[in-house]
Amino acid sequence: MQLSSARILLVVGGGVAAYKSLDLARRLRERGARVRAVLTDAGKHFITPLSLAALTGEKVFEDLFSLTDEAEMGHIELSRDADLIVIAPATADLLAKASHGLAGDLASTLLLATDKRILAAPAMNLRMWLAPATRRNVATLRGDGMLFVGPNDGAMACGEFGPGRMAEPLEIVAAVEAALASPAAIAPPASAAKAGALAGKRVVVTSGPTHEPIDPVRYIANRSSGKQGHAIARAAADAGALVTLVSGPVNVADPAGVHVVHVETAREMLAAVEKALPCDIFIAAAAVADWRVEAMREKLKKSAAGPPRLALVENPDILATIAALKKTRPALVVGFAAETENVVAHARKKLARKKCDLIVANDVSPETGIMGGDNNEVHLVGAAGVEHWPKLAKDEVARRLVEAIALRLEDAAQ
Ligand code: C5P
Repeated sequence: MQLSSARILLVVGGGVAAYKSLDLARRLRERGARVRAVLTDAGKHFITPLSLAALTGEKVFEDLFSLTDEAEMGHIELSRDADLIVIAPATADLLAKASHGLAGDLASTLLLATDKRILAAPAMNLRMWLAPATRRNVATLRGDGMLFVGPNDGAMACGEFGPGRMAEPLEIVAAVEAALASPAAIAPPASAAKAGALAGKRVVVTSGPTHEPIDPVRYIANRSSGKQGHAIARAAADAGALVTLVSGPVNVADPAGVHVVHVETAREMLAAVEKALPCDIFIAAAAVADWRVEAMREKLKKSAAGPPRLALVENPDILATIAALKKTRPALVVGFAAETENVVAHARKKLARKKCDLIVANDVSPETGIMGGDNNEVHLVGAAGVEHWPKLAKDEVARRLVEAIALRLEDAAQ
């Protein structure tokens, strides 16, 4: 469904970010959507019903027990007469209520009564976002099929810095468009990993290629699309993990609910991974360039002396570096092996050489269509043996991999 003909029910919770929801309402209406808003009591401390009514062009709903509201439109009807419910800001309190099915006010009642999908844009202090209770609630809600956009990293109104800032209005608009475009379903997609399998775990994933500059305008790269790494980050978040995705330059969108760090070179990727530690699980899905040009120069020019010679030096091996850490080694380190022949044999050697716990090996010969494609056929190579999976969508490979990782983590803890 298109945003231009969509009916959005916007639930505005009580957070400083509520001012951004006024802009969100405007952006949604600019694109043709009808927006009805519900303002919680806490939300009224931050913005007024009047400004929300002015920007949505509709009456604002505030009270569960208001006779006027009920006479005009009951809360059940309000929650169903929408194509999508958007909670922005989704406070820790609203998420906790929704995850437990509480229905003590209009906003939480609507969330419980709806038969439509819900997209939440969380906003809260970073300690509240990282608190085990919020982690559990978000994992439960994801498992129930709730969609998330953000929160982003950044400076917070309370003076701290970290994850918890509400996504920007246009990011939320993009997430609304994506939610409307995918077939409506209340139940979690069949591909969602077992809810909460990684609840509270910290996961760092690398994805995509790296670009190694030759001069200010040229670079060395490879054909990695980032589809598999991004799908893994999304699946880990769906399973309740707190995910940092360190991505090289790709054309795929940032997965919702994942903290994404964009980098270009292998050295930047390593630095971003090290900054994201400690974590429980490290998954190196990026196709990191093995070499970089020794010295970056001015833009190379054609000359009578012939083509330039590029002196290459080796890049750091991110996977091996992280696997070799002493104090901060993640409990589980997973690498990829993209090979064009003897896939399993090479993967076994890589497992030993890079001292990781698991290698996801695949054949990337051009005829397989795996590099850049939507499917993947992998072997899971670990100390205990090799598992071969049939050709599957990359999203499904990601979901199964997250389940396999969760099982190994459980085994390791016993
Ligand atoms: O040695 P090879 O490049 O085949 O190893 C592939 C695995 O190692 C992948 O998991 C990849 O992300 C990781 N890797 C890395 N840093 C490099 C090279 C590879 O993390 N410089």
